[in-house]
Amino acid sequence: MAKEKKKTTRQAYGITVLKAADPRVRAQKKKHAPCIHGNKFWNVSWCVMDFLSHQGLRPETRVLDIGCGWGLAGIYCAKNHGANVTAMDADAAVFPYLQLHAEINGVEIETWRCKFEKVKKKDLRQTNLIIGADICFWDEMVEPLYKLIKKAVGAEVGQIIIADPGRPPFHELSEKVVEKLGGEVKEWEINGEVQADAYLLIAGTLP
Ligand SMILES: C[S@@+](CC[C@H](N)C(=O)[O-])C[C@H]1O[C@@H](n2cnc3c(N)ncnc32)[C@H](O)[C@@H]1O
Repeated sequence: MAKEKKKTTRQAYGITVLKAADPRVRAQKKKHAPCIHGNKFWNVSWCVMDFLSHQGLRPETRVLDIGCGWGLAGIYCAKNHGANVTAMDADAAVFPYLQLHAEINGVEIETWRCKFEKVKKKDLRQTNLIIGADICFWDEMVEPLYKLIKKAVGAEVGQIIIADPGRPPFHELSEKVVEKLGGEVKEWEINGEVQADAYLLIAGTLP
C-alpha cells in the first residue's frame, strides 16, 4: 500500500504556514540561515492573531511587526484585516522566508532591516499598531525594547502588543512598561484550531 504523504503546511486563522519539512522551506534553508532565532515560526504568534481576531482591526491599519522572523503575525493582519504591514527584523536572512509566506498567502509586506535599538521616534509616526512575538528572550533586549515602546508612546502609536511564553526578560520589560508607561499583561490561551498560550503585554488602544 502506498505510504500516505505527510502534510507540510498548516492552516489556521486564515493563513497558511509552511512546516520545516516543506520543500520550499528546505530550499531556502540551503541559502539563508537566520542567526537570532528567526529560523522558524514561533508559537506565541498565534496568540497575537487570536487577540486581534477578538479585538478587531480596521482595514488599512498601519502595522509594524518588530522582530518579525517569518512574519506570520503581520501576514495575518494583512490577509484577514486588510492592514498595511511593515515587517522589521535585525537579521536580513529571515526575509526570504517572510516573502515566501507572503506569496503563498497572497499579500504584500514591506520589509525593513533594523535593530530595536536603532528605531527612531520619527520612524514610528505613521504606525497605528506595533506587534512583536517572542522578541524579548535575552536580558540585554529589555532596555532597547523599553526605549522603543517609550518612543512609540511618544509618537502616538495607538497600540503595542508584545507576546511571550513567559521568559524572565519579558516579565522585566512588562513590569517596567506597565509601571512607567501604562498598559497591562493578559494571560492568553487558545484551544481551538491551534493550541497555544502566551502573556500579552498590551499598551494603548486602537480607535
Ligand atoms: C524568536 S524569533 C520570533 C520571530 C517571530 N516574531 C515569530 O513569532 O515567529 C525572534 C526574532 O527577533 C529578531 N531579533 C532579535 N534581536 C533583534 C533586534 N535587536 N532587533 C530586531 N530584531 C531582532 C530575530 O532576528 C528573530 O527573527
